[in-house]
Amino acid sequence: MVYDVVVIGAGAAGLMCAAQAGYAGRRVLVLDHANKAGKKILMSGGGRCNFTNLGTTPQHFYSANPHFCISALKRYRPEHFVELVDRHGVEYVEKTPGQLFCATSAKEILRVLLTECEWAGVEIRLKTQITTLERKGDAMCLATSLGRIEAGVVVVASGGLSIPTMGATGFGFELARQFGLDVLPTRPGLVPFTLSDAWKARCAELSGVSLPVSVSSAGRRFTEPMLFTHRGLSGPSMLQISSVWQPGSAIEVDLLPAEDAGDSLRKAREITPKRQLSTWLGERFPKRFAQALLEWYPDPDLARPLAQYSNAELEQWGGRLNQWTLKPAGTEGWRTAEVTMGGVNTQAISSKTFEVKDLPQLRFIGEVLDVTGELGGYNFQWAWASGVACGQAC
Ligand code: FDA
Repeated sequence: MVYDVVVIGAGAAGLMCAAQAGYAGRRVLVLDHANKAGKKILMSGGGRCNFTNLGTTPQHFYSANPHFCISALKRYRPEHFVELVDRHGVEYVEKTPGQLFCATSAKEILRVLLTECEWAGVEIRLKTQITTLERKGDAMCLATSLGRIEAGVVVVASGGLSIPTMGATGFGFELARQFGLDVLPTRPGLVPFTLSDAWKARCAELSGVSLPVSVSSAGRRFTEPMLFTHRGLSGPSMLQISSVWQPGSAIEVDLLPAEDAGDSLRKAREITPKRQLSTWLGERFPKRFAQALLEWYPDPDLARPLAQYSNAELEQWGGRLNQWTLKPAGTEGWRTAEVTMGGVNTQAISSKTFEVKDLPQLRFIGEVLDVTGELGGYNFQWAWASGVACGQAC
């Protein structure tokens, strides 16, 4: 079998790339070992797929080579993908400003991509194992469970390592190494934290409670909700900070980001001296959390009014609330991570065509590359943008 373009991976980037190459008149085959295309699309955004972010800029991405993503993101912008889903009649909602989700189901996004591939004449073969990829003169040769396949260009769109049960493998990284490319160390990103010892039990008791917080670590800060889970801490703020968190280090959580808690407590003591601390906390936090705070930090006499609290005591409470500091034991790892930090070093890749600079028959797109977005639809926007740039250049 001979094709112009073989795409490895029927995920977000691979399908987008294949459709573009097909429209450009290429004979295109997409191969995937999974039994279904676009599994991650289907599970994304809680089943509603946060398919783009209208505010996408290169600053929303982590990479050792921060300029690499600029060209593709500039050429294929969120509005282009919105125009595509509009043409296919997909209804969507803007949840948090800029974040677009399907109104009904992530299946709609997969339907768009598969329809585009069909219209572009792309062939998709699932449940296909690829055993080897070799260069043969100017072409590439794949040994697969379908037999030998020859291709003018092979696009590696096999994604990262997160959620192995959904078909994630390190195949793309292995191929990169085989062809002499550097692969930067990988680690799970956008992943919930686990806690150990007393904090694990404390958080487990609050499982399901969510509150708006501001979290910082490694010089970054995110102000978004936090969610207590049976294993530790999750929610958008924790997923975001997990991408920069270094194992063994602490995170600092501002539980009252809109307020200087020490200052507010002193004012409350002045204006409402008879009020109790528990009442003050209860006005600011969900009931279960306010109660938990008083258990974690026992007060010598909870019945006393604020008037009887010293400045030092109120300062101490202020610190607990504005700088709640704890050391995660780790993260939930690849099992639940949304993305892979690190990956194929982009120094050897063209940011215009995504070809390997000294082997243009081989290309890498999407999450397999060392380009990782923050939470909020940026990762799909990268998949679309890199897929389009590469597909049009195939
Ligand atoms: P993707 O992982 O989509 O596709 C890779 C494909 O390659 C898969 O089909 C896989 O089966 C195939 N493959 C792997 N190894 C292979 C092999 N050896 N042989 C053949 N095929 C192979 N992002 C976002 O922007 N908004 C969101 O709402 C979410 N939500 C979200 C939720 C969850 C739970 C996860 C895990 C991830 C997200 N993401 C997200 C991230 C987003 O899903 C991710 O960044 C993109 O799917 C990456 O697209 P790719 O096409 O690069 O890889």
